[in-house]
Amino acid sequence: MPVLRSIRERFASERPLDGVAVAACLHVTAETANLVRALAAGGARVALCAANPLSTQDDVAAALAQEGMEVLAVRGEGPERYAGHVEALVAAGPDVTLDDGADLITALHEGGRAGGMLGGTEETTSGLVRLRALDLACPVLAVNEARTERAVNDRYGTGQSALDGILRATNLLLAGRTLVVLGYGYAGQGVAQRARGLGASVIVCEVDPLRALEARMEGFEVMPALRAAERGDVFVTVTGARDVLTSEHFARMRDGAVLANAGHFDVEIALGDLAALARDVREVRPLVRSYDLGDRRLHLLAEGRVVNLAAAEGHPAAVMDVSFATQALAVEALARGGFPRGVHPVPARIDDEVARLKLASLGVEIDTLTPGQQAYLRVWDDPSP
Ligand SMILES: NC(=O)c1ccc[n+]([C@@H]2O[C@H](COP(=O)([O-])OP(=O)(O)OC[C@H]3O[C@@H](n4cnc5c(N)ncnc54)[C@H](O)[C@@H]3O)[C@@H](O)[C@H]2O)c1
Repeated sequence: MPVLRSIRERFASERPLDGVAVAACLHVTAETANLVRALAAGGARVALCAANPLSTQDDVAAALAQEGMEVLAVRGEGPERYAGHVEALVAAGPDVTLDDGADLITALHEGGRAGGMLGGTEETTSGLVRLRALDLACPVLAVNEARTERAVNDRYGTGQSALDGILRATNLLLAGRTLVVLGYGYAGQGVAQRARGLGASVIVCEVDPLRALEARMEGFEVMPALRAAERGDVFVTVTGARDVLTSEHFARMRDGAVLANAGHFDVEIALGDLAALARDVREVRPLVRSYDLGDRRLHLLAEGRVVNLAAAEGHPAAVMDVSFATQALAVEALARGGFPRGVHPVPARIDDEVARLKLASLGVEIDTLTPGQQAYLRVWDDPSP
């Protein structure tokens, strides 16, 4: 994670977080360890609990605890123990929080302890939905919506890892097949682009006319899902909506069609409809469930759960490097203060800095505007002398 490493090195010399109490409720993984180490190098006192008990890597938790960090996370911990861990972080009275799903900052609000905080960061869409519905007592930076996050995490991360999950589960050759992507948002665009790169013919289904237009102009076929149902060999839902593929679609699909979901929740493929149509259901490979519809069989991957996590390893570390670099710089910005209450976009200078560091880690150099060009562009921005 070279981007985070370079931030950690700067933090170690500048100590921008000296005396700041940081509480993080994140997946306790090796990537997260690098983030909290960077924050600690900047002078922060860091406490960490798990955003999801099933993703905790116990060896990572133990290593961080040995380094003197307060870590409250055990893989498989039950709901009560989980709530106790969040509560312990609340009781310590943090200055800055990091969340992946908003549990920690919500608990601070419920306990009336968020008022004096410098602020928090949020890593997921669903967390931001919760926070926007809350009368926030402090600022929150929407890391999930940063431009670098959209590009690197949603498009390239999901694009690669969703296909990785499908290929690991099925061992299919995508070349020569038709892959249908339902939802052409940031994540869907990545899936479509990468599937094309593997030689698949890609069909896109959308409900947003502009996104559909973009898909068409990118060279993909675009059509309603009911028509695509008759054409696809592999279907990938990535909309964030529910019941995107239902019995109407299943009834039209071809023998052997593969169904996968890369959206956050397992509601995009109507599993009840599929079960109701099936005469027999059997596990034909790990994570591949075959539904016998009489004349055809449809193959559901990972029970309709998010395929890149369930059938592969989620995002590669290089993706989390960018996300967590944004997190680290967002914590630094919050520690400086000055943000009003409410949810705010990550400042553009942080996005630029993360992109610049990522380019540097890839050995890529770019041009900069000359003073003359800067002056010229300023004139167009602001015609007053
Ligand atoms: N698997 C991962 O690692 C990963 C990563 C990022 C996002 N996600 C999830 O993927 C989903 C989409 O995320 P995004 O960032 O691309 O969101 P987005 O809002 O950019 O895109 C979603 C797209 O789906 C379209 N859509 C909605 N309902 C539809 C329907 N019934 N049929 C066809 N298209 C429909 C919308 O018009 C939109 O263009 C969310 O659930 C998100 O949480 C997963």
